[in-house]
Amino acid sequence: MTVLDLGILISGRGSNMEAILSSIINDKSSQVTPQIVISDNAEAQGLRIAAEMFGVPVLAIPGRGLRGWEYDSKLAAALEQHGVTPAKGLVCLAGFMRLLGPEFVRRYSARIMNIHPALLPAFPGLHAQRQAIEYGAKVSGCSVHFVDEGTDTGPVILQRAVQVLESDTEESLASRILYAEHELYPLAVRLFAEGRLSVEGRRVRILGQSQTGA
Ligand code: GRF
Repeated sequence: MTVLDLGILISGRGSNMEAILSSIINDKSSQVTPQIVISDNAEAQGLRIAAEMFGVPVLAIPGRGLRGWEYDSKLAAALEQHGVTPAKGLVCLAGFMRLLGPEFVRRYSARIMNIHPALLPAFPGLHAQRQAIEYGAKVSGCSVHFVDEGTDTGPVILQRAVQVLESDTEESLASRILYAEHELYPLAVRLFAEGRLSVEGRRVRILGQSQTGA
């Protein structure tokens, strides 16, 4: 029985998408069905990976010239056609470079996740790894959060810290953070599918988690 219909939105490489799809395939008891991967960029490498490695339906919806709901309504229609409905779907943003407008966010309220390569609320927006280095942070990391109407402001689901080394460049820090992202995002999807995430205001409670954090 399908418990959760998943849609993933990407714009490029798609390594987080790949980590999510791999974890679903490798988990024999997974209750998640990846229904569609959509990109605003027809050249996105992740589209090929989704189709060729995982056999997931893919769709390019180029965004040029389309603003706000003009674009978002196309996304919503495509997701719903593929079974990713506001009632029983989950939309994962995985390197999706467009901001979703309020209509879309309200429609899929508490059913859209994003991954950000910093420990929010630090370093939101673009170039989070560069921001962390330039700020002189000793620790950064990644955050999976629900999407609200702001940019990287929604309730945090999971975070993982990564040390910033003196020798780090933007690229070296990004690649260590990415490694952590690939563990964290599939875990967040699994917790959602298991019905273990409950949002209370800004706080996301993880049901069944021991107080020691296990
Ligand atoms: C990741 O660093 C993610 O945190 C950010 O965009 C990047 C996407 O990488 N939102 P990929 O396309 O998943 O490889």
